[in-house]
Amino acid sequence: MDKFKELLTKSNYLTSFFTCSILFLIFLILIQTLISRFSRNGKLLRKIPTPPTFPLLGNGPIFLAPLKYWPRIISWMCTWCGPTFCVDAVFKSFIFTKEPEVIKKILPFTRHSDKAFVYKMGHFYLGENAIVTAPVSIWKADRKVVNPGLNTISNFPKFLESFNENGKRLADRLFSNNDTRKGRDIYVDLFQTTTEIVFETMFDYPIHDKPDIAHDIAKAAINCSDVAKSKLIRPWINIPPTAYLLGYTKIHCKMLADDKRSVKFTSYLHLLYEQRLATCDKLDVDELFYQFNTIIMGGTEVPSTVLRIVLYLIALYPEVQLKLREEIEAIFGIGADFDVKLEDVGRLKYMDLVLKESMRLLPATPLHGRCVGEDVDIGQGRIIPKGTSVHFLAWDIHNDPEIWENPKIFNPDRFLPENLIGRDPYAYLPFSHGPRSCPAQKFGNMELKVLLCQILAKLEVSTDLKLEDVRYTYGIVLHFDGVGLPVRFRKLD
Ligand code: HEM
Repeated sequence: MDKFKELLTKSNYLTSFFTCSILFLIFLILIQTLISRFSRNGKLLRKIPTPPTFPLLGNGPIFLAPLKYWPRIISWMCTWCGPTFCVDAVFKSFIFTKEPEVIKKILPFTRHSDKAFVYKMGHFYLGENAIVTAPVSIWKADRKVVNPGLNTISNFPKFLESFNENGKRLADRLFSNNDTRKGRDIYVDLFQTTTEIVFETMFDYPIHDKPDIAHDIAKAAINCSDVAKSKLIRPWINIPPTAYLLGYTKIHCKMLADDKRSVKFTSYLHLLYEQRLATCDKLDVDELFYQFNTIIMGGTEVPSTVLRIVLYLIALYPEVQLKLREEIEAIFGIGADFDVKLEDVGRLKYMDLVLKESMRLLPATPLHGRCVGEDVDIGQGRIIPKGTSVHFLAWDIHNDPEIWENPKIFNPDRFLPENLIGRDPYAYLPFSHGPRSCPAQKFGNMELKVLLCQILAKLEVSTDLKLEDVRYTYGIVLHFDGVGLPVRFRKLD
């Protein structure tokens, strides 16, 4: 009997605890609802269309949907609300837009260049003050240092040498790992190559003769990106940082910090390092390490995703592949072993169109965002209040039939100069625009061109997967579910 009473008292405590917690939560939500209705920002945001909301919870429950449904949910919201809409996530409201007119009022301006709230999901491995995540006040100085490192012509021959060598090794690897029957997704092979390139070009630290390091870093970087993707929909989860990436990068940063004499001050990281030494008494290794991770992520994940997409699309369109090969053979000869030189890059005109069209149809970075630094009047009585996160829906803009004719058709010719007349530049965002756009646009384009030349000169690529069966998910980059993007290769005679 006593035990029963004891149990009853315990269960009473538990019930009271849960009741109080739920009441407290309801109280918080009520306060938030009042703030969002009657505060100045709330009143302004309510003038922007919002998808149907749940009582008290706003659009919050939408964020519980698995990421694979987000592309469909977002395009449904665009249909329901129009090209610019506000999502009310209970404690915070977010703007999403696929309106070039709105985008051009934000992207070109440094005052709106802080990153959107969603970038916090990457803080666990990129830190808060690395180039991609830092607030404008810190970012400005770093970006000034980084731009010349990536864009100085005298650095290009060194970059090209690395692209050519790695392209040749990649072609061999793709062929030796080939699955002639069903084809296979080649993302990890591509990732390994872009990792080796980043280490050689950005850190002056070749790792191609240490394939385990390249492979482990590639795997760790993919893991970190997956964790960041999960945190996007489950921000409360706190998965410990992935050991490999953190281990390797910390060792390398320490090496740099300890051995100042070996630093050559030419590469991206060395330039940052020099600036840090000039402005601080002591180098903060942790901070350098986050910059290091940022460049690993920016320089590996995005270009390998673009290349994965391009190879799939040209496998799907053999006539485009044939034209590309004809262009390569016209410049370098048939069956020759060649190196792509700086003057050749500009001659690959059809390849330029193919790359641009691939990045339109399946943009590797499907959405990016900024936090506006002051109120932005976006017309039709709509004002985005200071401090709001605004997300640019690159995938939806690139696939909007009102902007691009027959957007689902892969047609590189739409980027011929005569077909671009009157086209709004803000309707195309593969590298973003403005002060915080990709600093490595030239580097990335050159890298993609050289790798493609080296692959297509030796191998023919094909696929059985139809475009309508491709399953993609939003993450830091576009992810492909299920079978991914399987392709198979045949050696050219
Ligand atoms: C074809 C390849 C690439 C594409 C399509 C691409 C795309 C982008 C985009 C869209 C952004 C803006 C993201 C945002 O607004 O948040 C960005 C930023 C950035 N990218 Fe790239 N990128 C590519 C290659 C690279 C490479 C090779 C590197 C480094 C070697 C790199 C380093 C960065 C960095 C550091 C930023 C942050 C810039 C800042 O916040 O100031 N990217 N990239």
